[in-house]
Amino acid sequence: RTVYVNGDYVAEQDAKVSVFDRGFLLADGVYEVSSVLDGKLIDFSGHMQRLKRSAGALELALPWDDEALLTIHRELIRRNALEEGMVYLQLTRGSAGDREFHYPGADTPPTLVLFTQAKALIAGRSGNDGIRIATQPDWRWARRDIKTVQLLYPAMAKMAAKAAGADDAWLVENGVVTEGASNNAWILTQDGVLVTRELSHAILPGITRAVVLELAEALSLRVEVRAFSVEEAQNARECFVTSASSFVTPVVAIDDIAVADGRPGQVTRQLRDAYIEESR
Ligand code: PDD
Repeated sequence: RTVYVNGDYVAEQDAKVSVFDRGFLLADGVYEVSSVLDGKLIDFSGHMQRLKRSAGALELALPWDDEALLTIHRELIRRNALEEGMVYLQLTRGSAGDREFHYPGADTPPTLVLFTQAKALIAGRSGNDGIRIATQPDWRWARRDIKTVQLLYPAMAKMAAKAAGADDAWLVENGVVTEGASNNAWILTQDGVLVTRELSHAILPGITRAVVLELAEALSLRVEVRAFSVEEAQNARECFVTSASSFVTPVVAIDDIAVADGRPGQVTRQLRDAYIEESR
């Protein structure tokens, strides 16, 4: 694989980042994941807008404009002949040479790394058959709206879900679902209302979430933007998750309780198809 590191395209085994990089020592960095379908990027401008927002919230310099970032994405897709999968981008605060809590001076160059990863997005099993969810307490920090590389707790939650026989985790706080460990959570109530949580510091403003909200409007679905409990989700007509890497993926069970008949829902499938069609 060819990867990008600070201006250079290099073979992955030749890529180098300092051991003093603040991304490595302090998780002082942000990231984005953009999907690629038929060799083309999906929702690119939305992802770059959020990258700027995340970097801005952390006073992290981003000395590349959208056009430069688009060129790097496209060049990696080309060099790796990527048809289907994702491009991962990580921006960290770099390093001033020592381990130090305070940010280094503004003249310290940030570290920008990008790589591609192939993945079957359309034909993958989970997107079509659905996934089983286990709930976990939301023990992340309080600024989940910033897409930082501090992903230890989401990794722990996914491992706990796996140990419980599930495919992924939903995180729960104060009796309501915040979001999935790496996706936004949705339900379709028995009355046919589509529900997803409102934006706040508690969840990541998903790019796929925003597109699916537009699609729902175009399909004349009734939508409520509010929190829901695990019990409401277990009793819903349909449940699903959204993210760049999973598009719209049905949820068929939550904590071993089947959602409806335990098969992917109709509206979920409709939204998945519409999202894929719009992305092509
Ligand atoms: N995860 N919520 C969380 C906590 C996420 O990590 C993600 C994305 C989302 C969905 O956002 P979007 O639709 O913009 O991908 C919501 C990425 C895909 C990941 O970490 O792999």
